[in-house]
Amino acid sequence: MKGILLAGGSGTRLYPLTTSVSKQLLPVYDKPMIYYPLSTLIASGINEILIITTPDDLMLFKKLLKDGSQWGCKLEYEVQEKPNGIAESFIIAENFINNDNVALILGDNIFYFPSLGHVTKKSIINHGATIFAYHVSDPERYGVVEFSNSGRIISISEKPTKPKSNFAIPGFYFFDKNVVEFARKIKPSPRGELEITDIIQMYHKKEMLSVIKMDKGTAWLDTGTVNSLMEASQFVQVLENRQGLKVGCVEEQAYLMKYIDENELRSLSSSFNNKYGKYIKSILDE
Ligand code: TTP
Repeated sequence: MKGILLAGGSGTRLYPLTTSVSKQLLPVYDKPMIYYPLSTLIASGINEILIITTPDDLMLFKKLLKDGSQWGCKLEYEVQEKPNGIAESFIIAENFINNDNVALILGDNIFYFPSLGHVTKKSIINHGATIFAYHVSDPERYGVVEFSNSGRIISISEKPTKPKSNFAIPGFYFFDKNVVEFARKIKPSPRGELEITDIIQMYHKKEMLSVIKMDKGTAWLDTGTVNSLMEASQFVQVLENRQGLKVGCVEEQAYLMKYIDENELRSLSSSFNNKYGKYIKSILDE
């Protein structure tokens, strides 16, 4: 399975923070936001990843993430000229996907998901689409899944004014190769975007959609507003300081997945002469 990390958009809700820099490069506590979705993809066993960003931000992402070989990954880059919607990423990524299955993660979605490796290995099917559902207090802000009493999917709706459930769809999805064809078929929504919800609905209509409810021990945070960005930083700070373990540490995750060995991790640790470097080194000492 390949991965797409979508890190374009305009970030207007965060202006002036994002007037001159991509939202996904802003700090979330001790690392750039994009580290979190990147380490989530790596934790899912994906190391061939396409980063899609804006023409203005491309160089900055390349400077930060390089070609990924330092983490045993292969990172490629494409540009989305305008924020035409999340689903456009599949059209941009057509050559990269090239008949493989693909996971899409949004660059501003942060997951604390200790059971992720287990879930992805057991549950991600090779045929159709698999999405997650997460219980939230404000489902009207998101795509929403409605379930029957027996757990069957009844409907999928985008930002409904009267949500039929509290289960929102997080920005982390798995699709088979049909996704490119489906993305080409959908039309822009009234807000002028190619909507990911429309693609999910197509899979649902064809009875090719599975939904995994994320359990209570997981956290899904989005960082689109100043408050949610601050809360995400605080969440990471509290967890990291309490446990002495990092969330979203790409170097650690690459090592845990055996994409890099001890020597490579040691050399990464020495490139940071600070607490971050010490933490990476401590993984080796344990
Ligand atoms: P949004 O938060 O929906 O949009 P945005 O980032 O442009 O922010 P705002 O609403 O404040 O203007 O985007 C969710 C994620 O998807 C985010 O990581 C950016 C990414 N994205 C793209 O890369 N391209 C797009 O066309 C859209 C709509 C979003």
